[in-house]
Amino acid sequence: MLVGRDREVEELEAALAQLATGSGSLVLMAGEPGIGKTRLATEAALRAKARGLRVSWGQCWEAGGAPALWPWREAYQGLGVAFPEARALAGADPAESRFELFRDATAGLLEVAPCVIVLEDLHAADRSTLMLLEFVATQRALPLLVIGTYRELEASLSRDTAASLGRAGRHAKMFVLARLREAEVAALVHDAIADADAKLTASVFATTGGNPLFVGEIVREWRATGATDQIPLGVREVIRQRLALISPEARRVLEIGAVFGVEFAREDVTRIEPRAAAVLEEAQRSGFVTTRGARFRFTHALYREALYHDLVRALRHELHREAALVLRTHGAPLSEIAHHLLEAGPDAAPEAIEHAIRAADQAVAVFAFEDATALLERARSAIPAGADEAAQRCRVMIAQGELQLRSGDAAGRAVCVEAATLARSLANPALLARA
Ligand SMILES: Nc1ncnc2c1ncn2[C@@H]1O[C@H](COP(=O)(O)OP(=O)(O)OP(=O)(O)O)[C@@H](O)[C@H]1O
Ligand SMILES: [Mg+2]
Repeated sequence: MLVGRDREVEELEAALAQLATGSGSLVLMAGEPGIGKTRLATEAALRAKARGLRVSWGQCWEAGGAPALWPWREAYQGLGVAFPEARALAGADPAESRFELFRDATAGLLEVAPCVIVLEDLHAADRSTLMLLEFVATQRALPLLVIGTYRELEASLSRDTAASLGRAGRHAKMFVLARLREAEVAALVHDAIADADAKLTASVFATTGGNPLFVGEIVREWRATGATDQIPLGVREVIRQRLALISPEARRVLEIGAVFGVEFAREDVTRIEPRAAAVLEEAQRSGFVTTRGARFRFTHALYREALYHDLVRALRHELHREAALVLRTHGAPLSEIAHHLLEAGPDAAPEAIEHAIRAADQAVAVFAFEDATALLERARSAIPAGADEAAQRCRVMIAQGELQLRSGDAAGRAVCVEAATLARSLANPALLARA
């Protein structure tokens, strides 16, 4: 059931009706975790389908490491439209080539328009994804409704992300989802517990503050234990308590999954923990994950976060390293492997830097300069102190200089000169030659 959100649903219906007349729009849904962004987007998707429209979803990868433009590529795939290949235009500057890529991308959608694309969790989007969103937001003549969701606070933590969403927002219908009112919470409680009395609904409202995710959690707890007096105050506490209900084996498998991300492959986790197959069923029964074929997905991003953040550092490093090894065996994107190595602690640093440089190279090839910059920035901060420190710094510097030159930033020359000076002082001819 969907409670409340009447105004939002009305506006979504208007956007869908407008789509039928050939003009598109952008709707952005912002709010705290568990407030109902995905739920409302699902409602929009259902209503779109009822009108015979195609709907496709793209998920931003909260665990990091996704290739540039990933959510768009995923959404295109869902629509059966090939995402265009980047082509370097002779004589054009990189920004122009990117513009062309975006134009090709929107033109490709005309085959299937009118349609709806839901981009989930844009607070975790890569820069290119947001730039394409900004571009699409201005293309009113394109019969496409884009619905983007994001967590407000998380988005505000990155200045670039916040600025980009702000610019896109100027062309968007903006929903900032509020917490549910007491009557709406009561309706949710009654839906789960038919004979809930006023005392129970009032107590659930007080404890949850009207966050629907928390309401769901607390109702589940009440149904399991019949008690409300043990209800913990914060949802993290609720989640920890729920996690305490599963076996240590299941928890370990979920921890491995959490390192991979909100979604993970059964096979990948099983490579690290051979008994995973059996316990994943338990994890599924207890509502932590759902299956999609051979993949599992945390039923809520908060579960993944709680598990991930409670990992002790040494184990977290070890699991990231193992994840990188597993992903390498089946040719996962370099950016993803680099991400895991960069999170795998100082021992993995040389390999992490190597991969990050190569992944940055790949990002540059599709004009995702900001993603490449971010990777190299992470590589630079991953350089551990020690004998090799200066040489590593020199390598990353060369890559950064090259990136700047390729993106049309003349300052790259000075960076290469500085790298050359450093290589000379290190008496390292190979690095000197590259610089
Ligand atoms: N208006 C609503 N009516 C009924 N149930 C709701 C409503 N809004 C949210 N829920 C339920 O609350 C839970 C959390 O909602 P949802 O997953 O949509 O949150 P979210 O804002 O997408 O969170 P996150 O930022 O973590 O992705 C889900 O189980 C969802 O079905
Ligand atoms: Mg969501």
